[in-house]
Amino acid sequence: MEKKVKVAVLVSGGGTNLQALIDYSLSGKLKSGEIVKVISSKEGAYALTRAENANIEGVTVSRKGKTQQEFEKGILLELANCGAEVIVLAGFMCILSKDFTDKYVDRIINVHPALIPSFCGEGYYGLKVHEAALSYGVKVTGATVHFVNEIADGGKIIMQKAVKVKDGDTPEVLQKRVMQEAEWKILPASLEMVCKKVLKGEI
Ligand code: GAR
Repeated sequence: MEKKVKVAVLVSGGGTNLQALIDYSLSGKLKSGEIVKVISSKEGAYALTRAENANIEGVTVSRKGKTQQEFEKGILLELANCGAEVIVLAGFMCILSKDFTDKYVDRIINVHPALIPSFCGEGYYGLKVHEAALSYGVKVTGATVHFVNEIADGGKIIMQKAVKVKDGDTPEVLQKRVMQEAEWKILPASLEMVCKKVLKGEI
C-alpha cells in the first residue's frame, strides 16, 4: 500500500468542514492523506459524532479552565499519540501560540470564511466574519485556506475561492453559501495538495 500522511483534524463545533474532509476521503480523492484523529476543544461537539460515524477516533481536549500552555500540552500529547504529521483546523475556535505553531511549520492548515486579508485576525470567527462582511457592504466574499503561524489568519495562503453576496443576505444565509460554494471544496483540495507535497518532500 502507498504511504499516506497521517492527518489530525481540530474542531470546536458542528463540523461541516470535517464532514467535507470525511466525504472527500471516502470518495477516494484524499490519495495522499488519512484522517487518523479528531480533537475537539469542546465537550459534546457534533463534530465528534461525525468522527464516530466515520470510525475515526475522536477525543476532547477542553479549553475550559486551562492555561494556554496546559491546553496546548493536551493537544500535543494527542497528536503525538496518533503520529499526526499534518493538522487541519476545521472550525477550530482557539488561537494557537507561537510555541505550538513553530513545532509544525507548514504542517497546520486552517479554513477561514472570508477572503484574507479581509475580515480576519483575532475576533473574526464564525458568524462574526459574515456579519462584518455584510455591514461593510462587500459584494464579493469567499473563503481562504492558509498555513497557520503565530499570527491569527496570517500564514501563507494556499487556496481561495470567491462567493457572491446577494441582496437580502443574512449572516446565516451568507455563511451557508460560503461553506457550500467555497469552504467544503477548497479545504479538502488543499489538504490533498499539502499531503502530496509532504510525501514528495517538497515542504
Ligand atoms: C466555518 O465557517 C469555518 O470557516 C469557521 O467556522 C465555521 C465552522 O463550521 N472558522 C473560523 O471562523 C475560524 N477562524 P463547521 O464547524 O461546520 O466546520
